[in-house]
Amino acid sequence: MALRSRILGCGSYLPENIVTNEELAKTVDTSDEWIVARTGIKQRHIANEGELTSDLARKAALKAIEHAGIDVQDIDLIIMGTTTPDNTFPSTATKIQAQLGLTHGFAMDVQAVCSGFMFALATADNFLKAGQGKTALVIGAETFSRLLDWEDRTTCVLFGDGAGAVILRAEESDGESAGILSTHLHSDGQHQDILMVDGGPSSTQSTGHVRMAGKEVFRHAVVNLAEVVKEALEDNNLTAEDIDWIVPHQANKRILDGTAKKLKVSTDKVIVTVDQHANTSAASIPLALDAAVRDGRIKRGDLLILEAMGGGLTWGSALIRW
Ligand code: ACO
Repeated sequence: MALRSRILGCGSYLPENIVTNEELAKTVDTSDEWIVARTGIKQRHIANEGELTSDLARKAALKAIEHAGIDVQDIDLIIMGTTTPDNTFPSTATKIQAQLGLTHGFAMDVQAVCSGFMFALATADNFLKAGQGKTALVIGAETFSRLLDWEDRTTCVLFGDGAGAVILRAEESDGESAGILSTHLHSDGQHQDILMVDGGPSSTQSTGHVRMAGKEVFRHAVVNLAEVVKEALEDNNLTAEDIDWIVPHQANKRILDGTAKKLKVSTDKVIVTVDQHANTSAASIPLALDAAVRDGRIKRGDLLILEAMGGGLTWGSALIRW
Protein backbone atom coordinates (compact mmCIF):
# COMPACT_ATOMS: atom_id res chain seq x y z
CA MET A 1 0.00 0.00 0.00
CA ALA A 2 1.25 3.48 -0.89
CA LEU A 3 -0.08 6.90 -0.09
CA ARG A 4 -2.14 8.70 -2.73
CA SER A 5 -3.58 12.25 -2.57
CA ARG A 6 -7.33 12.30 -3.09
CA ILE A 7 -9.18 15.52 -3.91
CA LEU A 8 -11.89 15.77 -1.24
CA GLY A 9 -13.44 18.98 -2.52
CA CYS A 10 -12.99 22.12 -4.56
CA GLY A 11 -14.10 25.74 -4.56
CA SER A 12 -13.66 28.95 -6.52
CA TYR A 13 -14.32 32.65 -6.44
CA LEU A 14 -14.56 35.35 -9.09
CA PRO A 15 -14.70 39.10 -8.43
CA GLU A 16 -18.17 40.55 -9.01
CA ASN A 17 -16.99 43.17 -11.49
CA ILE A 18 -17.35 41.84 -15.08
CA VAL A 19 -15.72 43.64 -18.01
CA THR A 20 -16.96 42.68 -21.47
CA ASN A 21 -15.00 42.97 -24.71
CA GLU A 22 -17.28 45.83 -25.78
CA GLU A 23 -16.41 47.75 -22.61
CA LEU A 24 -12.67 47.21 -23.22
CA ALA A 25 -13.06 48.43 -26.79
CA LYS A 26 -14.09 51.83 -25.42
CA THR A 27 -10.64 52.39 -23.90
CA VAL A 28 -8.26 50.43 -26.14
CA ASP A 29 -8.13 49.94 -29.94
CA THR A 30 -9.75 46.50 -30.17
CA SER A 31 -13.11 44.88 -30.91
CA ASP A 32 -15.29 42.07 -29.63
CA GLU A 33 -14.95 40.37 -33.05
CA TRP A 34 -11.12 40.38 -32.92
CA ILE A 35 -10.93 39.12 -29.32
CA VAL A 36 -13.51 36.34 -29.83
CA ALA A 37 -12.00 35.20 -33.15
CA ARG A 38 -8.38 35.09 -31.87
CA THR A 39 -8.97 33.91 -28.30
CA GLY A 40 -12.58 32.84 -27.62
CA ILE A 41 -12.72 35.34 -24.73
CA LYS A 42 -15.99 37.24 -24.29
CA GLN A 43 -15.55 38.75 -20.82
CA ARG A 44 -13.34 38.72 -17.73
CA HIS A 45 -13.78 39.41 -14.01
CA ILE A 46 -11.63 42.23 -12.64
CA ALA A 47 -10.98 42.77 -8.93
CA ASN A 48 -12.17 46.07 -7.52
CA GLU A 49 -9.72 48.53 -6.00
CA GLY A 50 -8.67 47.21 -2.59
CA GLU A 51 -9.73 43.65 -3.44
CA LEU A 52 -6.56 41.60 -3.00
CA THR A 53 -5.35 38.23 -4.23
CA SER A 54 -5.67 36.98 -0.63
CA ASP A 55 -9.35 38.06 -0.59
CA LEU A 56 -10.12 35.97 -3.69
CA ALA A 57 -7.98 33.08 -2.41
CA ARG A 58 -9.64 33.01 1.02
CA LYS A 59 -13.14 32.94 -0.48
CA ALA A 60 -12.21 30.07 -2.82
CA ALA A 61 -10.49 28.20 0.04
CA LEU A 62 -13.52 28.47 2.33
CA LYS A 63 -15.75 27.03 -0.40
CA ALA A 64 -13.32 24.15 -0.96
CA ILE A 65 -13.19 23.44 2.79
CA GLU A 66 -17.00 23.39 2.93
CA HIS A 67 -17.25 21.19 -0.18
CA ALA A 68 -14.70 18.75 1.25
CA GLY A 69 -16.56 18.62 4.57
CA ILE A 70 -13.38 18.93 6.62
CA ASP A 71 -12.60 20.91 9.75
CA VAL A 72 -10.33 23.83 8.85
CA GLN A 73 -7.97 22.74 11.66
CA ASP A 74 -7.34 19.49 9.72
CA ILE A 75 -5.21 21.42 7.19
CA ASP A 76 -1.50 20.71 7.61
CA LEU A 77 -0.09 22.60 4.64
CA ILE A 78 -1.14 25.39 2.31
CA ILE A 79 0.52 25.65 -1.08
CA MET A 80 -0.53 28.58 -3.22
CA GLY A 81 0.25 29.23 -6.86
CA THR A 82 0.32 32.98 -7.53
CA THR A 83 2.25 35.54 -9.54
CA THR A 84 0.37 38.44 -8.02
CA PRO A 85 1.01 38.17 -4.25
CA ASP A 86 -0.45 40.90 -2.01
CA ASN A 87 3.11 41.87 -1.04
CA THR A 88 6.57 40.87 -2.22
CA PHE A 89 6.77 39.13 1.14
CA PRO A 90 5.44 37.47 3.26
CA SER A 91 3.89 34.86 1.03
CA THR A 92 0.16 35.23 0.45
CA ALA A 93 -0.21 31.63 1.62
CA THR A 94 0.87 32.63 5.13
CA LYS A 95 -1.78 35.39 5.09
CA ILE A 96 -4.40 32.78 4.21
CA GLN A 97 -3.07 30.54 6.99
CA ALA A 98 -3.61 33.35 9.52
CA GLN A 99 -7.01 34.29 8.09
CA LEU A 100 -8.14 30.68 8.47
CA GLY A 101 -6.99 30.71 12.11
CA LEU A 102 -4.24 28.12 11.61
CA THR A 103 -1.00 28.23 13.59
CA HIS A 104 0.25 24.70 12.95
CA GLY A 105 1.81 23.25 9.81
CA PHE A 106 3.26 25.46 7.08
CA ALA A 107 2.28 27.61 4.13
CA MET A 108 4.13 28.85 1.07
CA ASP A 109 3.65 30.41 -2.35
CA VAL A 110 4.84 28.75 -5.55
CA GLN A 111 5.75 30.92 -8.53
CA ALA A 112 5.21 29.33 -11.95
CA VAL A 113 2.84 31.92 -13.48
CA CYS A 114 0.11 30.23 -15.55
CA SER A 115 1.43 26.80 -14.48
CA GLY A 116 1.25 27.88 -10.83
CA PHE A 117 -1.61 25.57 -9.91
CA MET A 118 0.12 22.56 -11.49
CA PHE A 119 3.31 23.30 -9.57
CA ALA A 120 1.40 23.90 -6.32
CA LEU A 121 -0.62 20.70 -6.75
CA ALA A 122 2.48 18.63 -7.51
CA THR A 123 4.31 20.13 -4.51
CA ALA A 124 1.44 19.36 -2.15
CA ASP A 125 0.99 15.88 -3.61
CA ASN A 126 4.66 15.06 -3.04
CA PHE A 127 4.62 16.32 0.57
CA LEU A 128 1.54 14.19 1.26
CA LYS A 129 2.99 11.10 -0.41
CA ALA A 130 6.15 11.59 1.68
CA GLY A 131 4.00 11.52 4.80
CA GLN A 132 4.77 15.16 5.68
CA GLY A 133 1.17 16.12 6.44
CA LYS A 134 -2.19 14.48 5.84
CA THR A 135 -4.40 17.26 4.51
CA ALA A 136 -3.40 20.05 2.11
CA LEU A 137 -5.11 23.18 0.87
CA VAL A 138 -3.92 23.98 -2.66
CA ILE A 139 -4.85 27.36 -4.12
CA GLY A 140 -4.39 29.12 -7.44
CA ALA A 141 -5.25 32.81 -7.12
CA GLU A 142 -4.44 35.94 -9.09
CA THR A 143 -5.22 39.61 -9.50
CA PHE A 144 -3.45 39.49 -12.85
CA SER A 145 -5.15 42.73 -13.90
CA ARG A 146 -2.61 44.54 -11.67
CA LEU A 147 0.24 43.42 -13.95
CA LEU A 148 -1.36 44.60 -17.19
CA ASP A 149 -0.47 47.58 -19.32
CA TRP A 150 -4.00 48.71 -20.11
CA GLU A 151 -2.73 50.59 -23.19
CA ASP A 152 -1.21 47.43 -24.72
CA ARG A 153 -4.01 45.79 -26.67
CA THR A 154 -1.88 42.74 -27.43
CA THR A 155 -1.96 41.68 -23.76
CA CYS A 156 -4.63 43.53 -21.76
CA VAL A 157 -7.56 41.84 -23.53
CA LEU A 158 -6.33 38.34 -22.60
CA PHE A 159 -6.38 38.21 -18.80
CA GLY A 160 -8.72 38.29 -15.80
CA ASP A 161 -8.77 37.82 -12.02
CA GLY A 162 -10.03 34.90 -9.89
CA ALA A 163 -9.20 32.08 -7.51
CA GLY A 164 -9.75 28.36 -7.13
CA ALA A 165 -8.78 25.81 -4.49
CA VAL A 166 -8.82 22.10 -3.72
CA ILE A 167 -8.44 20.05 -0.55
CA LEU A 168 -6.14 17.03 -0.81
CA ARG A 169 -5.95 14.18 1.69
CA ALA A 170 -3.33 11.45 1.83
CA GLU A 171 -4.99 8.02 1.86
CA GLU A 172 -3.66 4.49 1.59
CA SER A 173 -4.18 3.32 -1.98
CA ASP A 174 -4.30 -0.13 -3.52
CA GLY A 175 -3.51 1.41 -6.91
CA GLU A 176 -7.16 1.44 -8.02
CA SER A 177 -8.45 4.14 -5.70
CA ALA A 178 -9.27 7.74 -6.60
CA GLY A 179 -6.65 10.46 -6.39
CA ILE A 180 -3.67 11.97 -8.15
CA LEU A 181 -2.09 9.19 -10.23
CA SER A 182 0.96 11.25 -11.21
CA THR A 183 2.22 14.77 -11.81
CA HIS A 184 4.81 15.87 -14.37
CA LEU A 185 6.55 19.24 -14.26
CA HIS A 186 8.95 20.94 -16.69
CA SER A 187 10.63 24.26 -17.23
CA ASP A 188 12.98 25.78 -19.80
CA GLY A 189 14.41 29.14 -18.82
CA GLN A 190 15.87 29.70 -22.29
CA HIS A 191 12.49 31.07 -23.34
CA GLN A 192 11.96 33.45 -20.42
CA ASP A 193 11.91 36.53 -22.69
CA ILE A 194 8.84 35.54 -24.71
CA LEU A 195 6.53 35.92 -21.71
CA MET A 196 7.63 38.07 -18.80
CA VAL A 197 6.99 41.06 -16.59
CA ASP A 198 9.41 43.96 -17.21
CA GLY A 199 9.89 44.79 -13.55
CA GLY A 200 10.52 43.38 -10.11
CA PRO A 201 11.98 44.18 -6.69
CA SER A 202 15.58 43.41 -7.62
CA SER A 203 15.64 44.80 -11.17
CA THR A 204 13.46 47.92 -11.16
CA GLN A 205 12.06 48.15 -7.63
CA SER A 206 8.64 48.27 -9.27
CA THR A 207 6.00 45.74 -10.26
CA GLY A 208 6.27 46.08 -14.05
CA HIS A 209 3.89 44.96 -16.79
CA VAL A 210 3.29 41.78 -18.77
CA ARG A 211 5.18 41.60 -22.09
CA MET A 212 4.56 38.75 -24.48
CA ALA A 213 5.53 37.49 -27.92
CA GLY A 214 2.08 35.96 -28.45
CA LYS A 215 2.78 33.85 -31.53
CA GLU A 216 5.91 32.31 -29.99
CA VAL A 217 4.06 31.47 -26.78
CA PHE A 218 1.22 29.93 -28.77
CA ARG A 219 3.62 27.69 -30.69
CA HIS A 220 5.35 26.42 -27.54
CA ALA A 221 2.03 25.92 -25.74
CA VAL A 222 0.46 23.47 -28.19
CA VAL A 223 3.65 21.38 -28.48
CA ASN A 224 4.53 21.32 -24.76
CA LEU A 225 1.00 20.70 -23.54
CA ALA A 226 0.40 17.76 -25.87
CA GLU A 227 3.80 16.29 -24.88
CA VAL A 228 3.21 16.57 -21.13
CA VAL A 229 -0.21 14.94 -21.45
CA LYS A 230 1.30 12.04 -23.45
CA GLU A 231 4.03 11.71 -20.81
CA ALA A 232 1.39 11.38 -18.07
CA LEU A 233 -0.63 8.80 -20.02
CA GLU A 234 2.41 6.70 -20.89
CA ASP A 235 3.62 6.78 -17.30
CA ASN A 236 0.28 5.26 -16.22
CA ASN A 237 -0.11 2.81 -19.12
CA LEU A 238 -3.17 4.71 -20.35
CA THR A 239 -4.11 6.20 -23.71
CA ALA A 240 -5.89 9.37 -24.81
CA GLU A 241 -9.05 7.28 -25.25
CA ASP A 242 -9.13 6.70 -21.48
CA ILE A 243 -9.47 10.43 -20.75
CA ASP A 244 -12.93 11.56 -19.66
CA TRP A 245 -12.05 15.24 -19.24
CA ILE A 246 -9.21 17.56 -20.11
CA VAL A 247 -9.17 20.40 -17.57
CA PRO A 248 -6.68 22.77 -19.19
CA HIS A 249 -5.19 26.09 -18.25
CA GLN A 250 -7.49 28.58 -19.96
CA ALA A 251 -5.24 30.80 -22.07
CA ASN A 252 -6.90 30.80 -25.44
CA LYS A 253 -9.66 28.69 -27.03
CA ARG A 254 -7.39 28.08 -30.03
CA ILE A 255 -4.70 26.61 -27.75
CA LEU A 256 -7.32 24.35 -26.11
CA ASP A 257 -8.60 23.16 -29.50
CA GLY A 258 -5.08 22.75 -30.92
CA THR A 259 -3.93 20.64 -27.96
CA ALA A 260 -7.05 18.43 -28.06
CA LYS A 261 -6.56 17.91 -31.81
CA LYS A 262 -2.90 16.95 -31.36
CA LEU A 263 -3.99 14.41 -28.71
CA LYS A 264 -6.90 13.20 -30.88
CA VAL A 265 -9.33 13.90 -28.04
CA SER A 266 -12.77 15.32 -28.90
CA THR A 267 -13.21 18.99 -27.96
CA ASP A 268 -16.43 17.84 -26.19
CA LYS A 269 -14.13 16.45 -23.48
CA VAL A 270 -12.41 19.79 -22.87
CA ILE A 271 -13.66 21.95 -19.99
CA VAL A 272 -13.81 25.52 -21.32
CA THR A 273 -14.21 28.63 -19.18
CA VAL A 274 -11.89 30.98 -21.08
CA ASP A 275 -14.92 32.59 -22.76
CA GLN A 276 -16.26 33.74 -19.37
CA HIS A 277 -13.08 34.13 -17.27
CA ALA A 278 -10.31 34.91 -19.82
CA ASN A 279 -6.82 33.83 -18.70
CA THR A 280 -6.67 33.93 -14.89
CA SER A 281 -3.15 32.44 -14.79
CA ALA A 282 -2.70 30.10 -11.78
CA ALA A 283 -6.41 30.32 -10.96
CA SER A 284 -7.73 29.06 -14.27
CA ILE A 285 -7.48 25.29 -13.75
CA PRO A 286 -9.14 25.16 -10.30
CA LEU A 287 -11.80 27.58 -11.57
CA ALA A 288 -12.56 25.31 -14.53
CA LEU A 289 -12.42 22.18 -12.35
CA ASP A 290 -14.84 23.64 -9.82
CA ALA A 291 -17.28 24.73 -12.54
CA ALA A 292 -17.38 21.23 -14.07
CA VAL A 293 -17.61 19.42 -10.73
CA ARG A 294 -20.45 21.59 -9.50
CA ASP A 295 -22.48 21.40 -12.72
CA GLY A 296 -22.18 17.59 -12.62
CA ARG A 297 -20.06 17.02 -15.74
CA ILE A 298 -17.15 15.59 -13.74
CA LYS A 299 -18.29 12.52 -11.79
CA ARG A 300 -16.61 10.21 -9.31
CA GLY A 301 -14.50 7.66 -11.15
CA ASP A 302 -13.79 9.92 -14.16
CA LEU A 303 -10.22 10.19 -15.45
CA LEU A 304 -9.06 13.82 -15.65
CA ILE A 305 -5.95 15.32 -17.12
CA LEU A 306 -5.01 18.79 -15.90
CA GLU A 307 -2.41 20.67 -17.94
CA ALA A 308 -0.87 24.13 -18.10
CA MET A 309 1.93 26.18 -19.58
CA GLY A 310 3.13 29.59 -18.49
CA GLY A 311 6.00 32.05 -18.25
CA GLY A 312 9.43 30.64 -17.53
CA LEU A 313 8.63 28.70 -19.60
CA THR A 314 7.01 26.29 -17.18
CA TRP A 315 4.57 23.50 -17.95
CA GLY A 316 3.06 20.47 -16.33
CA SER A 317 0.23 17.98 -16.03
CA ALA A 318 -1.60 15.96 -13.40
CA LEU A 319 -3.52 12.77 -14.11
CA ILE A 320 -6.36 12.32 -11.62
CA ARG A 321 -8.95 9.64 -10.96
CA TRP A 322 -11.83 11.72 -9.57
N1 ACO B 1 -7.36 43.92 -30.95
C1 ACO B 1 -7.24 44.14 -32.28
N2 ACO B 1 -6.13 43.88 -32.96
C2 ACO B 1 -5.09 43.36 -32.28
C3 ACO B 1 -5.14 43.11 -30.90
C4 ACO B 1 -6.34 43.43 -30.24
N3 ACO B 1 -6.52 43.22 -28.92
N4 ACO B 1 -3.97 42.61 -30.49
C5 ACO B 1 -3.18 42.52 -31.59
N5 ACO B 1 -3.87 42.98 -32.67
C6 ACO B 1 -3.40 43.08 -34.05
C7 ACO B 1 -1.90 43.09 -34.15
O1 ACO B 1 -1.40 44.41 -33.95
C8 ACO B 1 -1.69 42.60 -35.56
O2 ACO B 1 -1.90 43.67 -36.45
P1 ACO B 1 -0.97 43.83 -37.77
O3 ACO B 1 -1.21 42.58 -38.56
O4 ACO B 1 -1.50 45.07 -38.37
O5 ACO B 1 0.42 43.94 -37.25
C9 ACO B 1 -2.82 41.61 -35.75
O6 ACO B 1 -3.80 41.92 -34.75
C10 ACO B 1 -2.41 40.16 -35.61
O7 ACO B 1 -1.64 40.03 -34.42
P2 ACO B 1 -0.96 38.70 -34.03
O8 ACO B 1 -0.14 38.91 -32.82
O9 ACO B 1 -0.29 38.12 -35.24
O10 ACO B 1 -2.25 37.81 -33.69
P3 ACO B 1 -2.33 36.31 -33.31
O11 ACO B 1 -3.20 35.62 -34.25
O12 ACO B 1 -0.99 35.70 -33.04
O13 ACO B 1 -3.12 36.36 -31.94
C11 ACO B 1 -2.73 36.19 -29.58
C12 ACO B 1 -2.55 37.03 -30.83
C13 ACO B 1 -4.21 36.07 -29.29
C14 ACO B 1 -2.02 36.89 -28.43
C15 ACO B 1 -2.13 34.79 -29.82
O14 ACO B 1 -0.84 34.89 -30.33
C16 ACO B 1 -2.10 33.99 -28.56
O15 ACO B 1 -3.11 33.64 -27.99
N6 ACO B 1 -0.92 33.60 -28.08
C17 ACO B 1 -0.83 32.83 -26.86
C18 ACO B 1 -0.54 33.77 -25.80
C19 ACO B 1 -1.21 33.45 -24.52
O16 ACO B 1 -2.27 32.92 -24.42
N7 ACO B 1 -0.52 33.86 -23.48
C20 ACO B 1 -1.03 33.76 -22.18
C21 ACO B 1 -0.01 33.40 -21.22
S1 ACO B 1 0.80 31.91 -21.63
C22 ACO B 1 -0.29 30.77 -21.50
O17 ACO B 1 -1.16 30.94 -20.72
C23 ACO B 1 -0.18 29.58 -22.33
